[in-house]
This record gives sequence, structure tokens and C-alpha cells, in this order.
Amino acid sequence: MPGWPDTFDFDTDPVCQTQFKPFIKEELASLRAYDDERPDEKTYIFHQHAARVAKDVKKTCLHLGLSSITANNMYWAALPHDIGKRLLPLDMWDSEEKPTGEIKKVRRMHTLLGVQIVEDLFSDVEHPFKDLMIDIMAHHHEQLDSKGTLGKSGEDLSQPVRLAAIVEAYDGYRIWRPHFGDRDISPPAVLNRMREEKGPEIYDMDLLEAFAEMKINEYNIIKTFEEN
Ligand SMILES: [Fe+2]
Ligand SMILES: [Fe+2]
Repeated sequence: MPGWPDTFDFDTDPVCQTQFKPFIKEELASLRAYDDERPDEKTYIFHQHAARVAKDVKKTCLHLGLSSITANNMYWAALPHDIGKRLLPLDMWDSEEKPTGEIKKVRRMHTLLGVQIVEDLFSDVEHPFKDLMIDIMAHHHEQLDSKGTLGKSGEDLSQPVRLAAIVEAYDGYRIWRPHFGDRDISPPAVLNRMREEKGPEIYDMDLLEAFAEMKINEYNIIKTFEEN
């Protein structure tokens, strides 16, 4: 299983720069156009979620002591994780109610739909970044207890996937949606919810705690700044 991506440098690698970077930018622009077609009152805006997730993934990598090259490679691989969403019907997303099992199932098809986009376009390209991007795209809704979207077992989930799954779930819980009601969605409350209600069956707890530490440090800095 692939570990942290440290065998190439996205910023200097010619294939990354000439093929994957323009691809990711185009896909995010398409996701933005898709978001623009959704109702105005939506709170979960996909292309903004993608940007936040990629940044948080990068920051957590640095917090873990990984190199800036690895952290940057992870940034670019996390950015397109939800591109498959734009292939689903618009009315899939913005219901007032909590989504039913059936709707959830269709929504979750975005993982493999995204992979299909990559496979179709880059069928003749072999590159570790492609493998990493596909790994995160396909598996970011998997769980360690194998009860995730595709039923992959925890042993098959790479470190990059485990981290992306945590960061992306956190970002989802931090965005208020109608069915959340008056739930506390502050950073500490969301992190506690992930620890207590979800926990080790779903997440890699070492990575969750590293992410939480990074996030709480950041939260405390912002709070101090706001108080003064
Ligand atoms: Fe997703
Ligand atoms: Fe996501």
C-alpha cells in the first residue's frame, strides 16, 4: 500500500505541472459552475469545501512533521477529491431534510464517478500522483470498520486516504445544514463529536488527534486575536 507521497515534487515534476495541474484547475472551475447552478440558499459549497480540505490536509501533514514537498503533494491530491459530484443530478444535494439512505447512496457515487473522469483522461499516464489522486478520490468515504461506501477494510486504507477522510468529514460537519438544527458546530464540538460519536471504528485516531491539535491551535490563535 502506498504511504505518504515523497517520491516526486508536484511543483517541479513536469507531468504534474503540464497535465495534472491544468486538469485540477479545470475540474474545480467546473465544480464551481455546478455550484452556481444550485439554489442560492445552499450552505455546503463544493468547490469551497475542496479548497479548505486541501489546505487543512497540507497543514496537518506539516504538523505531523512530513516534508513540505509531501504536504504540497497531498494538497494537490486532495483538491479534486469530490469532482465526481458534478456528474450527479443537481437536485441530489440541497434538500431541507436529512438525506435518506437511498439518496446518500447515489450521492456517494461521486467517488467512483470522479475516478472515472481521471481514468478516461489519463489512461496512458503512469505516475505516482495519479495513483494518489485516485486513491483519495475513490476511498475518502471509507471507514476503518469497513462499513464505508465501498466496504473496503481498514487495512486497505492508506495513510493519505485516512487523513483525507478525517479532514473532509470535519469540514462537512462544520458547515451548517438545515437538518443540523441547533447543533454546536464550533471546531472543539465537531472534533469531540468525531472522537466520541464516530471514533476508532471510523477514523484513524492518531491522525485524528494530530489534525485536532493543529485545528485547536489555529482556533485558539483566532480566538485570542478576536478577543484583543
Ligand atoms: Fe466526497
Ligand atoms: Fe469532500
